[in-house]
Amino acid sequence: MHLFLLGAGHVGLVTAVGLAKLGHRVTVADIDRSRIDGLQAGRAPMFEPGLEEGMASAADRLAFTIDPSPPADAAFSFVAVGTPFGPDGPLALDHVEKVVRDLLEVTGPDHTIVVRSTLPMSGPATLLELRAAGQGRAAIVTNPEFMREGTALRDFERPGRIVTGWLEERDRDAAERVLALYAGIDAPTLVADARSVALIKLASNVFLAMKIGYANELARLADAFGATASIVADGLGLDERIGRSFLDSGPGFGGSCLPEQAVALARIADAAGVPAPLIEAVAVSNRTHQRAIVARLASLLEPAGLAGKRIALFGLAFKANTDDVRESPALAIAAELRAGGAEVVGTDPRAGAHAQAVDPRLELAPSPDAAAAGADAVLVVTEWPVYTSLDWKAIAGAMRGNLVYDTRNVVDGSDVVRAGLRLERLGRP
Ligand code: UDX
Repeated sequence: MHLFLLGAGHVGLVTAVGLAKLGHRVTVADIDRSRIDGLQAGRAPMFEPGLEEGMASAADRLAFTIDPSPPADAAFSFVAVGTPFGPDGPLALDHVEKVVRDLLEVTGPDHTIVVRSTLPMSGPATLLELRAAGQGRAAIVTNPEFMREGTALRDFERPGRIVTGWLEERDRDAAERVLALYAGIDAPTLVADARSVALIKLASNVFLAMKIGYANELARLADAFGATASIVADGLGLDERIGRSFLDSGPGFGGSCLPEQAVALARIADAAGVPAPLIEAVAVSNRTHQRAIVARLASLLEPAGLAGKRIALFGLAFKANTDDVRESPALAIAAELRAGGAEVVGTDPRAGAHAQAVDPRLELAPSPDAAAAGADAVLVVTEWPVYTSLDWKAIAGAMRGNLVYDTRNVVDGSDVVRAGLRLERLGRP
């Protein structure tokens, strides 16, 4: 099958490579010429494990273009453009609307437009209006993704579920045909109305964010009473109604999905006049947690606290195995540290340049050792595997102070202590 896909971002490219690996031919279009030039030369515009390898292995079934119209023999057009935070709030539909409107102009009733972008709850109604207003008779189906950055290709190939949504009864067959494109993947499937599907997508991410927020609050409680958060999480997770995943405490949830969608769903509920205190609390809990981490660091640096201190952040990406810094806890924490009078230097195996582009005040160091030079404290923010085996003797030698605060529980505690440093860990006595 020849498929067309618009939007060579993270979701679009992983989807394209995943579909190509299933045997489809996929033509990927994007308006960014330099991005398309890079892709044609085999370069992915972002770091995602296995993506460039996947592009190479399916090269004969992948094409990249800046032409936004579907090839004549393509029966499906995937829409994977962004729904970013716009002037009116999160999940702005402008890009999706434009692309779908244009596709409706040039496609007929045998074509299916597959919207993979994350939609607000108003999304299905907007898509219906677009179709009613246009000449086109293409079917429109929604097909949200549930892929994590860093493991996105694996999540495509082994998803928890594949979900497609129909706008009107007459799109039901098209929703089934979209599902059939994923033949070869063993996963539970669900076909439902697009409004329910939109809520499934948002509710999934906000539930995960809620779990993490809960785990972080428990970690702080554990600290207050000398319990161990990871053991508490293990015990909770043994109950299969709860499950162990997404109960790891850390510096708070970041990334392009969880923080934005927590805010989006709360606003959607508010605008609809639906009281939703639990949903509202998710984003609040994350901010509270990040402030609490900085307050804890300040208390560990008493009597003088943060003022005049130099703090080295180990990790700037919102999680390991990505160069993405969108809504990264490291950046929120850096701002909070500076507000407290500290000077902040950061280091990251991959995300340094992106972090500095977003936060030009952030001083960047090329390595953990360099970041530690003259620092009063090291704050470990991202769980990069390299941070499990750092040379703590060298770091201790370079530091001005002696405090290491690990929010991810990744460092080798005995090495840190052997180097003469004082180790504090979130959720661990
Ligand atoms: C998320 C969803 O998981 C995915 O299904 C959806 O399609 C896109 O959004 P992603 O943003 O890539 O994926 O990140 P994810 O792995 O979910 O992590 C989000 C944040 O939560 C990260 O900052 C991570 O460090 C944090 N996290 C995750 C925790 O703090 N504890 C955990 O137990 C899990």
